[in-house]
Amino acid sequence: MSIKVELLADSFDLVRSQKEAFAKTFYSRLFVIYPQTANLLQETYMKRQEASLVAALATVISLLKKADNNQFVSVVQNLGKRHQGYGVKREHYWMVGNVLLSTLADFLGDRWTANLNDAWAEAYQAIVGLMYPISVNLDATVREHKERREDRVPV
Ligand code: HEM
Repeated sequence: MSIKVELLADSFDLVRSQKEAFAKTFYSRLFVIYPQTANLLQETYMKRQEASLVAALATVISLLKKADNNQFVSVVQNLGKRHQGYGVKREHYWMVGNVLLSTLADFLGDRWTANLNDAWAEAYQAIVGLMYPISVNLDATVREHKERREDRVPV
């Protein structure tokens, strides 16, 4: 995984000092631009969710920093499995990714560069790639079995 960890960690440190304001801005923007995400989170106690988002990003960065790839992969895969249970679908990940990047850009102001944008976009895609593929694989398996069964139907 060619994630630019130092770049991410430095920029995240700047956001961490304003984590409450960051999380608040992120969620209010998410719900205005993509109201369908609010349906998924309506039962949620938002204060806890705001803290979770920043804590989850901090965990991901610290695992990446330690270059502990196995732990990174299993933490993120398990997070993805739980998210399937919450009803999160592929398109929601892109909604969250867009809003995450635009909120980071606003908070970092002049320090947000094209390089940093690419580094966060790559890291987010890598994370989503680990969180989501489980259900994609499951769909493929179901289809495969069905096709095999249909193959056996006598004509
Ligand atoms: C990189 C992407 C994401 C990260 C790091 C992340 C992180 C987290 C964390 C740490 C929790 C706390 C519960 C747990 O650990 O299972 C959580 C819960 C949740 N997340 Fe995410 N999340 C991500 C993407 C999304 C997306 C795209 C959606 C859909 C809009 C979403 C919706 C939810 C919901 C519905 C819960 C359950 C809240 C509850 O307890 O009621 N998350 N997320």
